[in-house]
Amino acid sequence: MNIQITRTSKSRINECDFKHIEFGKIFSDHMFKVDYANGQWQSPQIIPYGPLSFSPAMSVIHYGQGIFEGMKANKDNQGNPLLFRPLENWTRFNKSAARMCMPEIPQELFMEGLRQLVLLDKNWIPTGEGSGLYLRPFMFATDDFIGVRPSSNFTFIIFACPVNAYYTKPLKVKVADKYVRSFDGGAGFAKAAGNYGISMLPTKEAQKEGYDQIIWMDGREFKYVEESGTMNLFFDIGGKVLTPELDGNILDGVTRKSCIDLLRAEGIEVEERKISIDEVMEAHRNGTLADAFGTGTAATIAPILTIGYKGKDFNLPEIANRKVCNFLKASLENIKNARTPDSFGWLMKATDKPWTATQ
Ligand code: COI
Repeated sequence: MNIQITRTSKSRINECDFKHIEFGKIFSDHMFKVDYANGQWQSPQIIPYGPLSFSPAMSVIHYGQGIFEGMKANKDNQGNPLLFRPLENWTRFNKSAARMCMPEIPQELFMEGLRQLVLLDKNWIPTGEGSGLYLRPFMFATDDFIGVRPSSNFTFIIFACPVNAYYTKPLKVKVADKYVRSFDGGAGFAKAAGNYGISMLPTKEAQKEGYDQIIWMDGREFKYVEESGTMNLFFDIGGKVLTPELDGNILDGVTRKSCIDLLRAEGIEVEERKISIDEVMEAHRNGTLADAFGTGTAATIAPILTIGYKGKDFNLPEIANRKVCNFLKASLENIKNARTPDSFGWLMKATDKPWTATQ
């Protein structure tokens, strides 16, 4: 595949203070871009990162036909970029695209865009603990038309941000009691922009009460936990790890599935099933709630220190004493940075050669 590359005339890398990176505010020098028109993907390009110009009638702005992904690149000790399970992101991206009535993106286009962008901007990959080059593939509807129907034109872009972990301290989360993120038959599993848009007011209200995030509940009974903010959820109850099942309402997280595999390989029992908030609160009462945490590409492993439920706050064990989240955090960091063998085959090294379909 031929990607036309226009390099920036002046790198901005020296303006980046890699020691003090705020999540999502710094962008690397280049971005990958390809348009979809006349029923097919057009010529892909890598161009300097920068503003784009669009019509005020562009349909994504009005009706929300927009989806995205998030993944991270780290480096091995020879400086080669390592991507963590990017094919999982590609697969999920296309599931989101199908749900939002958008064209799927071929594997080669997605993967070559990633590989060539990451190679070109590899000096932007930060090396501190918990950091990485966050890659943001996204697609949006570009028809210049305000009738409500699926767009015929789309743009797909990947840009890159050097980041540290999204959350800088253990979380205080509030169990939702009023708003719902997703409902059976909705688009909760999709990484659709609108799913994040609707979370903003509820999250802002929770933040005014001193919480960092919301634990979303099922929309029928407010009985079963779903996910939290930008993360999937896990609970260690009496040595067994529970995580909500993929019921179509929650995101099929890449970090979530990696944690399940890591725990099972360690001989720790994991159950994917419905988890009622009563079960979590009962475990807190009887002292068996040993750990609760969120998982996500941006969040990595984010321990929950306090759960707010029905107007009361419930504190969980000290983070230093948490076996499960500390094990997962260290294991994932070690794998992503190639400090331990990649026994699950999760890493894809970006080199001058395109990846083959079997990699
Ligand atoms: C990610 O973890 O990659 C996400 O998409 C979260 C993002 C909304 C910050």
